Amino acid sequence: MRNNVIVGQSGGPTAVINSSLAGVYKSAMDRGIEKVYGMRHGILGFLDEQYTDLSEHIKSELDIELLKRTPAAFLGTCRYKLPEIYGHEDVYKKIFAVLDKLDISCFLYIGGNDSMDTIRKLSDYAVIVDHPTRFVGVPKTIDNDLAVTDHTPGYGSAAKYIGTALKEVIADTLSFAYDTKIVTIVEIMGRHAGWLTGAAALAEGEDSVGPDLIYMPELTFDMERFVDKVKEILPKKKCITVAVSEGIKVANGKYVCELGEGSDYVDAFGHKQLTGTARTLATVISAEIGCKTRAIELSTLQRSASHLVSRVDITEAFQVGAAGVKAAMEGETGKMILLKRVSNDPYICITDMHDVHKIANAEKTVPREWINESGDYVTKEFMDYMKPLIQAELPPIQVEGIPRYLYMRKNGTPVT
Ligand code: F6P
Repeated sequence: MRNNVIVGQSGGPTAVINSSLAGVYKSAMDRGIEKVYGMRHGILGFLDEQYTDLSEHIKSELDIELLKRTPAAFLGTCRYKLPEIYGHEDVYKKIFAVLDKLDISCFLYIGGNDSMDTIRKLSDYAVIVDHPTRFVGVPKTIDNDLAVTDHTPGYGSAAKYIGTALKEVIADTLSFAYDTKIVTIVEIMGRHAGWLTGAAALAEGEDSVGPDLIYMPELTFDMERFVDKVKEILPKKKCITVAVSEGIKVANGKYVCELGEGSDYVDAFGHKQLTGTARTLATVISAEIGCKTRAIELSTLQRSASHLVSRVDITEAFQVGAAGVKAAMEGETGKMILLKRVSNDPYICITDMHDVHKIANAEKTVPREWINESGDYVTKEFMDYMKPLIQAELPPIQVEGIPRYLYMRKNGTPVT
């Protein structure tokens, strides 16, 4: 009888993606599943029959705790989209043959909107060939751009890191405000959604003025207005900090990063690598105003900062993993687990699920009314939405002053 689970991780990692993996593992074991397999590098590795028995790596409750607090994708990840079913049945036959070989009853995939496409296609194929394996998606992305769910695991921790980093940077630059003019531009991930960039406003509080300007990808970026705005603030403040999304575009549809020395790299999901926005803007400011500038690209740091996770986030990440197993074992398929905010104050959030066909490939962006009228800051509604998600901490387990992670071994040595 089929009584095994397989789980994969896909897309960009987050600081809490392994907490979802831990949730899948623990819940499956507690529910009497015999083996939990992990795909190596998502569906792409699975196509090459790359998988591992998770019990070889997770041997105790302490290992589960370590896994929860380990950044990056423990199983390895991929950015790979399965081809459409029709015309590519051979690919699906191959995947399902391996599922049969491993006696898989539940297939869990931890990922974002592109990765949910994998759950959509596999669950559709299972219906076509009347196959008993159930396919359930577990949400994850720092971008927070998944449809239907209130928010995605990974977002709260990245937002907490961004708010903290901005607060530190602002304090540093303001120390020079007596005689030096500095414009610091901080570039934040999130592709076409400004959820993460808006988190820069978390730096604002009674002890910090917060960023001066925030530019989100939901609105067209106007270079002239930006320069004018900086010119207007600079005489009053001398040191100003600007948060910009990597995905801002000018009126002709070009990314700002394409105006400078960006990158031409395009990944397998068809996404262009967005990098160099802060550098491009800093170059413009220095040419137009002639003051000192600094470009900071938070880059990988914002999604791998496991030393600063939000406890709300890491807990919810675990819960969606566990809920995924429960749903699949109860017969659900073609669904994604989601988070439903029941109340904001006190913050109460429960898990639920939804048809993955309504979620795969869709992008949820920040509503216009959550960005101020002049298009350069967020509103109170946005702040109220974010704040519960960044609460409390769960520090890493430290050994000799440095965080300790769970790592994959083969014959006693770390797998690279
Ligand atoms: O997965 C989300 C994300 O973090 C985006 O915000 C960002 O544009 C992208 O990943 C970067 O991915 P990579 O590290 O593969 O270039």
